[in-house]
Amino acid sequence: MRAIFPWTMNQDIDIVIFGASGDLARRKIFPAFFSLFSRGLLPEGVRFYGFARSDLSQKDFHDKIMSFLTCRYSPQESCREKMDSFLSRCEYVRGEYAADTGYRYLLDRMAAARGGGVSADRLFYLALPPEMFSIVSKRLSENSLALPEEDARCSRVIVEKPFGRDRESSDELIGELKKYFTESQTYRIDHYLGKEIVQDILVFRFANIVFQPIWNARYIEKIEILWSEELGVEGRGGYFDEYGIIRDVVQNHLFQVLSLLLMEEPDSLEANDIIDKKVDALRHIKPLRLRDVVLGQYSAGAGKPGYIEDPTVPKDSLTPTFAFLKLKVASPRWHTMPVEITAGKAMNERKAEVRIIFRKPCGSLFCKTGKCQPSNALVIRIQPDEGFHFQIATKEPGTKMELKHKNLDLSYISAFPGKTMPDAYENLLLDSIRGDKTLFIRNDELEAAWDILTPLLNEIEKSRLKPRLYKFASEGPEVKRYSRKHKLCLNPPA
Ligand code: BG6
Repeated sequence: MRAIFPWTMNQDIDIVIFGASGDLARRKIFPAFFSLFSRGLLPEGVRFYGFARSDLSQKDFHDKIMSFLTCRYSPQESCREKMDSFLSRCEYVRGEYAADTGYRYLLDRMAAARGGGVSADRLFYLALPPEMFSIVSKRLSENSLALPEEDARCSRVIVEKPFGRDRESSDELIGELKKYFTESQTYRIDHYLGKEIVQDILVFRFANIVFQPIWNARYIEKIEILWSEELGVEGRGGYFDEYGIIRDVVQNHLFQVLSLLLMEEPDSLEANDIIDKKVDALRHIKPLRLRDVVLGQYSAGAGKPGYIEDPTVPKDSLTPTFAFLKLKVASPRWHTMPVEITAGKAMNERKAEVRIIFRKPCGSLFCKTGKCQPSNALVIRIQPDEGFHFQIATKEPGTKMELKHKNLDLSYISAFPGKTMPDAYENLLLDSIRGDKTLFIRNDELEAAWDILTPLLNEIEKSRLKPRLYKFASEGPEVKRYSRKHKLCLNPPA
């Protein structure tokens, strides 16, 4: 959990965003920096440089950034002023990623903006495909932009997923980056960790005594994580087809959520203590095999084209856009409790939620008639409408003893009225400047996550497994979920 850290970078920071003309930079990164800037959360001496290959004038660049800035935190009158002040600190540098020229020019511009000196700290954001990480880091280092850890000035790099395609390529990527940035200078971003409710999982679990004694396989029968999006790949096929849904959202976003649900209580709120427990939780998940999954690919439906009809996707693609995975967690706390993860694009709704399904009590009073109450369930709704909902059995008012399943609700909108929810990127970018790594992925976390999936991914590729087709805007292909037939009921605690 994020603690309040003092600034660990100097008051002068140069932030360089590579891939500055791309979608991620325009839609997420610059707007998040602007929000932090407009709230007065960035050091006074901050400057931004956008680096990309496109031939853009400063005005074109500012126009591109402007179109996505919002005034969520500023009253309208002062917002325009803040935008002007923000843009006056943003400069575009055109350059080829593999050639030195652009990097030299960047260094000159950084020095010129600070009156000839280059004393500022540096933060580099590589909003680029992973195959570019190594070459850009090398150039940064050779052109004295990336500084060694011992330098008085602080220098950090933020990298975006995908961090490899499997354990081997991820190790290679880690090894390449390590030549230029130490692990403590490297910030691997997973925006799900910046979502408020995902951070709240730790508080929910460890600050509320009521859940602690029942957070184990004795009381919990299974955990489900459901993730779906209404959008298909919509022109992003070039990237997506290389990775597929398992690498795109399961290996990172959903495994991160899962590790927070499964982990033991950390010794402190320090980043390494928390991450140690997350790694440990991931290491207790058994590696997946082909028999543990159902894969799907969307076909045309609801007037939308199918996956392979997207012009950016090869016509014979077998890449899954849907996956159902059944995992087993073999730790003392979880025995071999099942976890089911469902993730799909082009589905009937946009949703990300966790369901913790509790066991039924044995010989419950209300089962005598053969009509048992449903299990308790805790739903953690990540999006939309984030909140915690605890499903419990209640007596329906009336003359008969009829049980009904109702929710105890804690939705963020009603619990925190009027509170502006920060975007996940705002939280994470601020942490990267403060030097708080709690919400970033450590290299061993990455290794543990890939170890669960690599045998499966190899098998899928080797067998050229055909995904089942499902229609755009449907619930996905049919999946045989965990059967409750053999479930154990809960014996009263000894
Ligand atoms: C990205 C994936 O990491 O997360 C996308 O690459 C996905 O495919 C996106 O759409 C989902 O993010 P969010 O925050 O909208 O759930």
